[in-house]
Amino acid sequence: MSDIHPKLQALNGEVADCTKCPLHSTRTNTVPGEGPVPADIMFIGEGPGKNEDLQVRPFVGAAGKLLEELLQGIGKSREEVFIANVVKCRPPGNRDPQSEEVQSCWSYLERQVALVDPKLVILLGRHAMDRFLPGQKISKDKGQPKRREITGLGVRVYMPIYHPAAALYNPNLKESLAEDFAKIDPILEKIHDLPRFESSRPQLEEDEQVNQTLAL
Ligand code: URA
Ligand code: SF4
Repeated sequence: MSDIHPKLQALNGEVADCTKCPLHSTRTNTVPGEGPVPADIMFIGEGPGKNEDLQVRPFVGAAGKLLEELLQGIGKSREEVFIANVVKCRPPGNRDPQSEEVQSCWSYLERQVALVDPKLVILLGRHAMDRFLPGQKISKDKGQPKRREITGLGVRVYMPIYHPAAALYNPNLKESLAEDFAKIDPILEKIHDLPRFESSRPQLEEDEQVNQTLAL
């Protein structure tokens, strides 16, 4: 991307050199994520797959195509949203990222969220959901936007949904995803008047873990 935010560029450089977890030894490339800074909507997936690892871009394979279709379905393009993953290096054979790997990579994602300053964070699947909304179950909690109060700073909304890869061959999950994408604009309208964050913010670990469902 051409006019990349300098702080994001610096972060991407750190990720490119990162050896904090074993995934560094099997990657071809690091895939930090991409999109505008700031952005109203941020998607967080699991980790790069084979295509992503080779092309150095998130969600460029079949799951990415579905993500783009779902965005088009609500009149949006992938260029207007930020897309990242909980791990920046491909787990070998597309296995699930392990919790120590997610933990090692967490500071990058945390800084990305701070930079992107999204109003709405869409958590694609269990791995992203576990990190931001621990204790929830994707089958039960998908499509339920949670507002998280951050003391003295304001509110950010998190919505877990099925991972598009899970929906590729399952029409029911695809239907569920389309229903949840249809909630995006109403959620943004609803939180339009909520206070935005200051530019310097506390670590997410220090956030008050108050997850109230945002009534639509
Ligand atoms: N699946 C993910 O979770 N992330 C990608 O970037 C691609 C596929
Ligand atoms: Fe570093 Fe994250 Fe890659 Fe692990 S997955 S090596 S923590 S960038």
